[in-house]
Amino acid sequence: MRPKIAAGNWKMYKTFDEACELAEAIAITQFPDNVQVVLGVPSLYLAEVQEISHKNNRIDVAAQNCYFEKSGAFTGEISASMIRSVGVMHVILGHSERRQYFGETEDLILKKIKAVLGEGMTPIYCCGEPIEVRKVGNHNSFVEAQLEGSVFQLSAEEVLKLVIAYEPIWAIGTGETASPEQAQEMHQAIRRAIAIKFGDDTAAKIPILYGGSVKATNARELFSQSDVDGGLVGGASLSAEEFIQIIHSF
Ligand code: PGA
Repeated sequence: MRPKIAAGNWKMYKTFDEACELAEAIAITQFPDNVQVVLGVPSLYLAEVQEISHKNNRIDVAAQNCYFEKSGAFTGEISASMIRSVGVMHVILGHSERRQYFGETEDLILKKIKAVLGEGMTPIYCCGEPIEVRKVGNHNSFVEAQLEGSVFQLSAEEVLKLVIAYEPIWAIGTGETASPEQAQEMHQAIRRAIAIKFGDDTAAKIPILYGGSVKATNARELFSQSDVDGGLVGGASLSAEEFIQIIHSF
């Protein structure tokens, strides 16, 4: 049985007080038994949100990025071990905004995945195609090429520690969600590619989340697809009320 995961990605939103208030509202909520909640918060607030979330053992906190080196003269960066030192055990990696605005390549993302795994933490690896690729029907091969460059360079043992998030770029922050059928088709293709590379057992165990305009109104239908194990939610995770509804959508 794969875990059901509702992960929020707060991106570069919220002041410190707003972030604490949002975390607090989520932390005092009772969740369905089978759901794991992850809050992807700005680095500056990791320690505080971790502290607030502590009172609810169903919540994990995630950083939205990290650098691959353990320590050193890398001004402005934070390492996986620093994130771990405040009790945070998840890191979102390879988000399309990091690829687009910060030039992250599959090679760099692989180094970051290894750094996070090296600390015994869980990478939430993001992949997904742009609209031009979807329009010509090459989305499956595009995402497989992304996986080939990073995830498929890992050992089967390492891959088992990943969470994968499929986030079609055309659906992120646009209000245009992939249909449940489109999400299922891609999730199944990802799982099949993992099965070919690492075996059926491994593929069956890896949670694959869908991201891209997930909302309270569409979460249930998306999460009901057999290969969709939850969501990575941006905009709709900034409202406690809406995110809590999403958590209850499994
Ligand atoms: P969105 O963002 O839900 O606002 O589309 C998802 C994400 O970027 O993770």
